Amino acid sequence: MRRASITGWGRCTPEPVLTNEDLASVMDTSDEWITSRSGIKERRVSHTDNSDMATVAGAHALAAAGLEAADIDYVILATCTPDRQIPAAACYVQAKLGTVNAAAVDLNAGCTGFIYGLSMAQGLIATGAADRILLIGSERITPYLDFEERSTAVLFGDGAGAVVLEAAKGDEGVLSMTVGSDGSLAGVLTAEGVGTSFVGNEVPMRIIMDGREVFRNAVTQMGESAALALKEAELDFEDVDVLIPHQANLRILDATARRLDLDESKVYTNIVRYGNTSAASIPIALSEAIEEGKVSPGGNVLFVAFGAGLTWGASVVRWGDRVEALGVSDAKLPPTDRTGLELVLELMEKKRVSA
Ligand code: COA
Repeated sequence: MRRASITGWGRCTPEPVLTNEDLASVMDTSDEWITSRSGIKERRVSHTDNSDMATVAGAHALAAAGLEAADIDYVILATCTPDRQIPAAACYVQAKLGTVNAAAVDLNAGCTGFIYGLSMAQGLIATGAADRILLIGSERITPYLDFEERSTAVLFGDGAGAVVLEAAKGDEGVLSMTVGSDGSLAGVLTAEGVGTSFVGNEVPMRIIMDGREVFRNAVTQMGESAALALKEAELDFEDVDVLIPHQANLRILDATARRLDLDESKVYTNIVRYGNTSAASIPIALSEAIEEGKVSPGGNVLFVAFGAGLTWGASVVRWGDRVEALGVSDAKLPPTDRTGLELVLELMEKKRVSA
């Protein structure tokens, strides 16, 4: 069976920064509370569409893989915050990148989107239905935040990350894959305001979350998924070089590592700078981990995630020989002179006016 191997990686993190102190200036919260409950110090706010971030991340991943846009035969965009409901945001990315030979589709599995995308990419490559896939996780989640709901608004941020997957030439690639869901818990983490449920019942866009219930399920499912993915790969935790988890909350990651009896130094985290970027968090973390030398040639990388649905999943990927990018791209977002706080104040004002 052909295995999908990661040959390119990249990210796009918008420049406007929103700090905990900024949040404390618009709602009843504090840096101390946010840091101690989540590990987050700041997050990014996008001034432009989701597909713009996805395109920039995708361009960097293509360059790192040494490929042209026309080499890609499938674009999978994992997102729950697309530019529009119709068409798929992946189609905007397809046009902006010029992946003229590619199919394009969005995938919504909440924060587990990247892992679900990896499982689909593995399936497409295994069957020969695709040879070179661009898998992007991208979220512009800030417009969905209700800045009057302090326990949710402080946790999320915007950004995009991407990987290129190609058929492995050696024994590298996806060694195992596990994904699951429980739709009976859909209400634990949901969004209002967009979708047919709201026809004739217009309400502002906002995320609603039962934080404690999410926390409890996240620790259980991340732990069980990671253990299952390792078992299927016939590996032990000692064989893992680095665990790249969905960056939901530092306390969830610490609790998951403890549950797995995994050395914390093997767990890659960057939540302090980006917050929870949903489906974008794993590919952003992966591209930073590679640049920081945390991924070694031939090393085993364990991915694990949990999110709205509820959904969860994990995968073990054996890295190939190359941890250096083959090329670089100068793709970047259009400039903005607005700060993260100014962007948030604009959003709050628009929501106030339309309410
Ligand atoms: N600043 C200050 N105080 C806050 C606050 C904020 N941003 N948000 C909530 N509080 C207050 C609450 O009002 C409550 O006060 P009270 O005791 O006077 O009523 C107190 O802090 C404790 O609230 P609680 O909800 O019990 O806190 P918690 O310890 O459960 O932490 C979360 C809340 C959201 C951080 C935590 O439940 C969590 O991390 N859940 C998982 C979220 C997640 O990762 N979601 C994405 C999954 S993909």
